[in-house]
Amino acid sequence: MGMNKNEKCINISDLSRRIESSSIEEKLRNLSEIFPGEIVFSTSFNIEDQLISHFILHENIPIKIFTLDTGRIFEETYKVWSDTNKFYNYSITAYYPDTNKLEKFLSKKGPNSFYASVQDRMKCCFLRKVEPLRRALKGNSVWITGLRSEHSMERKNLNHLEWDDSNQLIKFHPLLDWKLEKIEKIIKKYNIPYNHLYNKGYFSIGCAPCTRSVKHGENYRSGRWYWENDSVKKECGLHLKKNKK
Ligand code: ADX
Ligand code: SF4
Repeated sequence: MGMNKNEKCINISDLSRRIESSSIEEKLRNLSEIFPGEIVFSTSFNIEDQLISHFILHENIPIKIFTLDTGRIFEETYKVWSDTNKFYNYSITAYYPDTNKLEKFLSKKGPNSFYASVQDRMKCCFLRKVEPLRRALKGNSVWITGLRSEHSMERKNLNHLEWDDSNQLIKFHPLLDWKLEKIEKIIKKYNIPYNHLYNKGYFSIGCAPCTRSVKHGENYRSGRWYWENDSVKKECGLHLKKNKK
C-alpha cells in the first residue's frame, strides 16, 4: 500500500470506522481488502488463536497465518498445529530462530539459561521469538493477534486496532473483549482442534520449560515464567511497546 508510517498512524480511527461491522469475519475480510497481501496472523495455537484461525480459514479470507516455533514448544502444540493444517487443508507458515545465533548462545550459556535471570530469559525470548517475529512481519501492514483484555492488567488497556511503533504496523486484536466461555463454546460447536493441555489447566501456553498449569481463580498468565514473581515481567517481548534492539 503506498501509505507511509504517519498516514497509517493518523488513519487508525478512520480505519476503525471503515471495518466496523457486526462480525469478526467481516472485519477480517475488510482489512484483507484494504491491505491485500500485507496482512498476517500470528498463532501460538492457544484457544484464542484457534478461533481466529477458524474465522480466517473457514471463510477463506486471504490472511497469511504463521507461527514462531521456538524449538522448545510442547508435543501437544505440535499436535494441534498438525491437526489444524489437516482440518482446514492449509499450511501454516513456520519461522525459526537464526541457527548461527542460537548455536553461539547455547554453546556459551547451555540449554536452560532462562532460569538464571530475567535478562537471560529475555535474551532467549529475543532469539527464539522476537527476532523471528521481525522477519515474519517484514513487508506487512497489519498484524493480527489473539491478545485479550482478560489476560492481564497491561492487556486491559489495549485497543482493538492500534499502531505498533516497535514493528511499524497496525495491530488488530479481534478477540480483545471476548470472554473465555464464549470462545470455548464456539470451539466445541464447530469441533475446532485445540491444544489438549488446555483441559489440564494450561490457559496460556508458551514454551514447555517456561509454562505450567494454573489453578482456577489464578491469573491466566501466572503459569508463564512462573519462577519470576514480578507480574511486569510476564511478557516475552513480542507485545512489549518498546522492543530491545
Ligand atoms: S506471549 O507474548 O506471552 O508469548 P501469548 O502467549 O499471551 O503471548 O499470546 C498472545 C498472542 O501472541 C497470540 O495470540 C499470538 O497472536 C501471539 N504469539 C505468542 N506466541 C506466539 C508464537 N510462538 N508464534 C506466533 N504467535 C505467537
Ligand atoms: Fe526461551 Fe522460555 Fe522464552 Fe521460550 S519462553 S523463548 S524457552 S525463555
